[in-house]
Amino acid sequence: MASTLDVIASRRSCRSFTSTPVPRDVIEKIVQAGAEAPCAMGRYPWTFTVVNNPETLARVNQETKKQTYGAPCVIFVGVNNGIPGYELFDAALACENICIAAQSLGLGSIILSYHYPTDVTPAVNTICGKPADHKICMGVAIGTANGPVHAHTHPAPNVTFH
Ligand SMILES: Cc1cc2nc3c(=O)[nH]c(=O)nc-3n(C[C@H](O)[C@H](O)[C@H](O)COP(=O)(O)O)c2cc1C
Repeated sequence: MASTLDVIASRRSCRSFTSTPVPRDVIEKIVQAGAEAPCAMGRYPWTFTVVNNPETLARVNQETKKQTYGAPCVIFVGVNNGIPGYELFDAALACENICIAAQSLGLGSIILSYHYPTDVTPAVNTICGKPADHKICMGVAIGTANGPVHAHTHPAPNVTFH
């Protein structure tokens, strides 16, 4: 099993997926990892809306006009009843946990930004039968990478010690 540091260092955004479905139990493990993220003032404000039915995903993608790179599954991360001003922090931390969990399970991932909350919220709420006040912040596409993921090197950290 790869170390946590190796998993973090090997994660890169995947921009080409196969259509192979991600098994339900694997998605559940990945969502659980999202829900293990820290959150402002312990509100645990997340909702995870998994869109993995191909017809539903096609409808969401059409409505949002978002490139999801052929991924068979997008996990939409919502934050409801979070601390005002911290919703995007909470959502982002859950998204990163999702990416790291996917990487550790041998799957590709990519965080997808949608203009919060106007772009994706109405489309997903309508299509997935959520209440209109259910706010979605971000999405994470996951699935089997269709070939090697571009393994670019990140710049060295801009760090100072004092
Ligand atoms: C908040 C956020 C939003 C992003 N939105 C998109 C997106 O909409 N589409 C996309 O192709 N990549 C998106 N990305 C992926 C970034 O482009 C990518 O993480 C960055 O270029 C660094 O590359 P790496 O993830 O391979 O290390 C997003 C990343 C973050 C953190």
